[in-house]
Amino acid sequence: MRDAAGRDITYLRISVTDRCNLRCIYCQPAGVTPLQHDDILRYEEIRRICRQALRLGINRFKITGGEPLVRRGIIPFIKELKEMAGVDQVTLTTNGLSLGRDLHALEELGLDGLNISLDTRDAGQYAALTGYDGLAVVEEAIAAAAGGPIRTKVNAVLLADTADQILPLAELARDLPVDVRYIEVMPIGEGRHFAGPAGAACLAVLRTVYDDLQPDTAWHGNGPAVYYRSRQLRGSIGFIAAQTHRFCGSCNRLRLTSTGFLKPCLCYDIGTDLRSLLRGGASDEDLYKAMASCLANKPAGHHFENQNEVTEHKKMSQIGG
Ligand code: GTP
Ligand code: 5AD
Ligand code: SF4
Repeated sequence: MRDAAGRDITYLRISVTDRCNLRCIYCQPAGVTPLQHDDILRYEEIRRICRQALRLGINRFKITGGEPLVRRGIIPFIKELKEMAGVDQVTLTTNGLSLGRDLHALEELGLDGLNISLDTRDAGQYAALTGYDGLAVVEEAIAAAAGGPIRTKVNAVLLADTADQILPLAELARDLPVDVRYIEVMPIGEGRHFAGPAGAACLAVLRTVYDDLQPDTAWHGNGPAVYYRSRQLRGSIGFIAAQTHRFCGSCNRLRLTSTGFLKPCLCYDIGTDLRSLLRGGASDEDLYKAMASCLANKPAGHHFENQNEVTEHKKMSQIGG
């Protein structure tokens, strides 16, 4: 279905939990209280929403968190979603810590894409950023995923303190068939307290070593990243310049928070409380109409510089990125 601004909405990001086994300082630092189990949508409730999403023309689903792999039953849930009639793609964004356990099952069920978050290749920085000494585990997971059938990308949010990691992170794309993407930190939730290098600054540093980097227009995913290629790199380099570039004009997505709030835009608090509808006995038709109306009213764009317009209360881990 097309929204009021003429954009085809074909993709839904589903946050299946706000919980996470890391404590990234720009996302959910130590001390945050997780939501109660009853507040989180049950899998059957999410499936009902997905069935109506399919009727709206949404056939690509991204599973996010918090950390989606910490939720019990997530593998069978992804498998069922993959097998649902009309579903084109199911992809997953994870911090990688549990992939040693789950990668094989994800390969078997035919997952269409895996994004693994890794913001630094320095073990001390990783522990300081995430509260956990997990660098080796995540690097192993990236190498294992890259060796398998699932298209794999690395997501790196750079902060001022980790700007020295631009070149070390790119070496993952040099040594493995993975794309490495540099993400500008967004002023949402805890992210409001941080700043990092812009995408253009990262590109300038990368060009000092990979001087033949040039735009890569091949398809890499459904998101807002812009890609570059170099003959020296096996994977591509991507930039998600949420702060310095506007990509709202080609936005294709809605978001479902872990509590069942359907958000038409990452930035604003507006949306539709689907959990109340589901638990209040709404029919599939009621659900469909509520979702269609939310989609139709998707804001034309966001303005991070207008802090009073940006979502205040929602945590990134609850929205799902
Ligand atoms: P693929 O390209 O299909 O792999 O998906 P993606 O890049 O959209 O997904 P991922 O979960 O890996 O998100 C990467 C980063 O992009 C995260 O920091 C998200 O918060 C950010 N992001 C995803 N969608 C949007 C969006 O619509 N607007 C903004 N501003 N940021 C987004
Ligand atoms: N700005 C940009 N990216 C963020 N992520 C979490 N919080 C922010 C933020 N404030 C990223 C994670 C992960 C993805 C799902 O979202 O690092 O890669
Ligand atoms: Fe967990 Fe991802 Fe948030 Fe880090 S950014 S705390 S890995 S949800």
